[in-house]
Amino acid sequence: MILPIVAYGDPVLKKEAEEIEENYPKLDELIENMFETMYQASGVGLAAPQIGLSIRLFIVDGTSFAEDAEEDPKAKNMEDFKKVFINPIIEEETGEKWGFAEGCLSIPTIREEVFRKEEVTISYYDQNWKLHEETFDGYKARIIQHEYDHVDGVLFTDHLSPLKKRLITKKLTNISKGEVEHNYKMKFPAKKKQR
Ligand code: NI
Repeated sequence: MILPIVAYGDPVLKKEAEEIEENYPKLDELIENMFETMYQASGVGLAAPQIGLSIRLFIVDGTSFAEDAEEDPKAKNMEDFKKVFINPIIEEETGEKWGFAEGCLSIPTIREEVFRKEEVTISYYDQNWKLHEETFDGYKARIIQHEYDHVDGVLFTDHLSPLKKRLITKKLTNISKGEVEHNYKMKFPAKKKQR
């Protein structure tokens, strides 16, 4: 089932999400719905707050990056990068910061350069509640860092300089009102009710 993606301005995107327990109801169905929702929106990551659920869960599928691996070393070994992260904890971020123009399914049409460290070590449970601790780099790290931010109530726009943020304020306000082009189902916090 495709779920509406919550747009910029909804308080759920600014909230620190809660951990879940193993008996969380219909978790497999939720994860399946999140993948379906992400794919139809052509995303490479989706966090639960983006579908209105304030829980510490996100999914990624960066396998589409694999085809760029020859020209771009940051895209190497992406062919199996499809994962579910439950109750993740970033243990460490290391390396030099590098800039990348990020986008977000909750903030359509806006892309801005965000600087993040090269490597991330993260512990998390997978869909079978097996605990992992792994280190990622390149676009894998980038996607994880972006999605992890979502479960902490942080958006990529929060990393922009005050000047850059000011330059896109009007656009962000319009997005929250639903005045933005998008080709997937969304829910806008400030949209006037249709009569
Ligand atoms: Ni996002």
